Amino acid sequence: MAQQKLTIQDFYRMKAEGQKITWITSYDFPTAQFAEAAGLDMILVGDSLGMCVYGYESTVPVTMGQCILHSEAVRRGAPRTFVVGDMPFLSYQTSTPEAVYNAGRFLKEARVDAVKLEGGVRVAAQIRAIVEAGILVIGHIGLTPQSSGLLGGHKAQGRTAEAARVVVEDARAVAEAGAQMLLVEAVPPEVTGFIARDLSLPVLSIGAGPDCDGQLLIVSDLIGQFQAFRPKFVRRYCNVAEMVTKALGDYCADVRAGRFPAEEHCYRMLPGEQEKFQALMKK
Ligand code: KIV
Repeated sequence: MAQQKLTIQDFYRMKAEGQKITWITSYDFPTAQFAEAAGLDMILVGDSLGMCVYGYESTVPVTMGQCILHSEAVRRGAPRTFVVGDMPFLSYQTSTPEAVYNAGRFLKEARVDAVKLEGGVRVAAQIRAIVEAGILVIGHIGLTPQSSGLLGGHKAQGRTAEAARVVVEDARAVAEAGAQMLLVEAVPPEVTGFIARDLSLPVLSIGAGPDCDGQLLIVSDLIGQFQAFRPKFVRRYCNVAEMVTKALGDYCADVRAGRFPAEEHCYRMLPGEQEKFQALMKK
């Protein structure tokens, strides 16, 4: 039987029942198909596509146009999975009307189920406005890559008591503004655990430990495709870079040695046609 797409109510029920929510990023049609076939609960079309797909040094250059295009492809690949569009840098920071408009574009053009945006207290007004427009919002606090300059780089957050208090304040601001889920990135498990118990909404972790309602990983890290660096919190489940590089090398070797293409890769002429062809060519 085709799987049923989960709703926000399902995620609240899973939290209540202690059933972990599974989430990965995906940026393209085939990977979205694999994710749906594997039974992932959610897919994030993350602005990490800037680094994982386009080779940028950060997520900052990523545009709304790119996010919409990749979200459309993912939606086509995973029609029965809860898909989240990630709001790129400058698509929501400048004003609440712009934030609502851009969040709405994800729904209208890419038919995603929710949007995610980075920040706590400082984006509470935008979250409230987007939710009031009828759009599901997932907050993202802790390490927020779009503002990593302000944070002094891609560093874990909330590692002192005072810094942890700031992360908790952000979590509460996101929840009070009406977000329906929360992603916590690169924060100690003690702090994430406190937030997950403190708030009624489902709290998910990327690099923020197991003591919460689910986990997110970037697919390019999980499958060993992204090569530039590997964050401490990543577990690699296969090494696609090694597999693909080997396959391409084997292909080159076969072509150079005349082993490819072989007989089974050729379209032979229909019976009797070769003789006719030769006769035709002799004229
Ligand atoms: O874009 C993304 O993949 C993200 C994760 C880093 C959480 O926002």
